[in-house]
Amino acid sequence: MPIKPLRKAVLPVAGLGTRFLPATKAMPKEMLPVVDKPLIQYAVDEARAAGIEQFCMVTGRGKTALIDHFDIAFELEATLAERGKQSALATLRSEAMEPGSITTVRQQVPLGLGHAIWCARAFIGDDPFAILLPDDLVLSETPCLKQLADAYNQTGGNVVAVTEVPHDQTNRYGILDIGEIVGNLVQVLGLVEKPDPKDAPSDLSIIGRYVLLPEVVAHLARMDRGAGNEVQLTDAMARMIGHTPFHGLKFEGRRFDCGDKVGFLEAQIAFALARPDLGPAVREFLKAYTNA
Ligand code: G1P
Repeated sequence: MPIKPLRKAVLPVAGLGTRFLPATKAMPKEMLPVVDKPLIQYAVDEARAAGIEQFCMVTGRGKTALIDHFDIAFELEATLAERGKQSALATLRSEAMEPGSITTVRQQVPLGLGHAIWCARAFIGDDPFAILLPDDLVLSETPCLKQLADAYNQTGGNVVAVTEVPHDQTNRYGILDIGEIVGNLVQVLGLVEKPDPKDAPSDLSIIGRYVLLPEVVAHLARMDRGAGNEVQLTDAMARMIGHTPFHGLKFEGRRFDCGDKVGFLEAQIAFALARPDLGPAVREFLKAYTNA
């Protein structure tokens, strides 16, 4: 069977962001900037670089800023043009979305990541789709989702981005039971959501980048509760193993968990250092702190 092209992405953005209060009291956590770009924009840019054309944001109450962010800001653009702020204008215009390329659905109740994805079932239809969790930011040569899309085009099956985590942190992530390893592709024999370190089948964890076949929706529809009494995406994915190819991709790049304060601060520094316009100045001032 020919491999269907990957054109759709689901962005679950309904979370409350309680770990970043009070910053997230009146602002979605996905609008928090790393340097000068909100987390949601990194996710969308990465997806577009992987060939994604259609987006579905799974939102909740208080998330309208995310939708506004991808709209055209006519007044702002007119003012910038009038004042000759060409570079700011070019930034806005380069990020403009195709009309009709973003749709939203609401997750009315916070029943977990699996439930959030199930809310996008009409958008997913019969097509393969990507999932990007905007909390996870990846600094890499090739955008992380592009690496996954390439692996999907090679295997025709499910692919999740994976990275090693310290053994005592397996209870924070979805963890792989590993089969054969070929290059950077790991055959997935099993998946467990947030296992206790003593029960973890490996230290290889899923990060917030997935390419999945639409069959996962039927498994999600069972609404079985898993870890934390939530409907877990990991559990639904686990049910596809053995029926459709399933691989973990040890991606090239560094992942930052921006849902965590230390991870978020680390991302600020790493992304600033990687920028030609900011890197030298940031490197310079960091010396003062690291020598202290
Ligand atoms: C979710 C997934 C988990 C995955 C993680 C990556 O967990 O359930 O399997 O490892 O994202 O960031 P959450 O961070 O929503 O608790």
